[in-house]
Amino acid sequence: MERIVDEEKEYYSLVKKVFDILAPFYDILTIPASRVRYEVVGFTNAGTGSKILDVGTGTGKQAFSFAKKGYDVIGIDLSEAMLKVARRKNRYGNVKFEAADAVNLPFEDNSFDVSCVSFALHDMFLTIRERALKEMARVTKTKGTIVVIDYALPENKIKKFLIYHIVKLYEGKYYMEFIKSDLKALLRKSGIEIKEELPVLLGAGRILKGIKTEELLAIGS
Ligand SMILES: C[S@@+](CC[C@H](N)C(=O)[O-])C[C@H]1O[C@@H](n2cnc3c(N)ncnc32)[C@H](O)[C@@H]1O
Repeated sequence: MERIVDEEKEYYSLVKKVFDILAPFYDILTIPASRVRYEVVGFTNAGTGSKILDVGTGTGKQAFSFAKKGYDVIGIDLSEAMLKVARRKNRYGNVKFEAADAVNLPFEDNSFDVSCVSFALHDMFLTIRERALKEMARVTKTKGTIVVIDYALPENKIKKFLIYHIVKLYEGKYYMEFIKSDLKALLRKSGIEIKEELPVLLGAGRILKGIKTEELLAIGS
């Protein structure tokens, strides 16, 4: 237990340190993933007027892609430095950004039609990741949509080897544990029933779309 507390402390200070440094360059560094933002919006296929939460929103790239389609979006993030960039770019009346921790979302149960987390889970220590997904399920309406976008590995052995070793070169401390973990099992444990999956970035990423189900949440708790 003490070890977990120490690991979590280390995680919080690491997130602050890393994203304080990365924030000014983040949008340039992630240009190769720009197309995925629109794929996510299309794949989510949210109903007109949906209220969308973007967890670990960073500089708001995914949040803005939803906002452009007219949805009401709230993006939350731990990093003030990343949020500062998001707020500076914000030209939309239907998106706002708040500082918050994914493990303790400042929203009532069943508040959102869609909750999304894009390339943030692999940056989380395992216990934080678990709690963040449960929080996302809590604030999403029953039968509402939960969308997870993150790294994956393709089936093909050569591609798998290459992608794993390339991503490992630049990704942070938690990537290796994340990529070997069973994300789908964790989603189910968090009360999210996976309905669809779409590989992106030549198999280096995937979008998982699920719905919040009370039955799974009861089993997972
Ligand atoms: C790699 S960035 C992804 C940003 C954005 N979602 C995107 O797709 O470009 C990961 C983000 O997750 C945020 N993050 C990590 N742990 C978090 C937590 N516990 N609560 C809220 N945000 C968190 C970081 O501050 C960072 O902005």
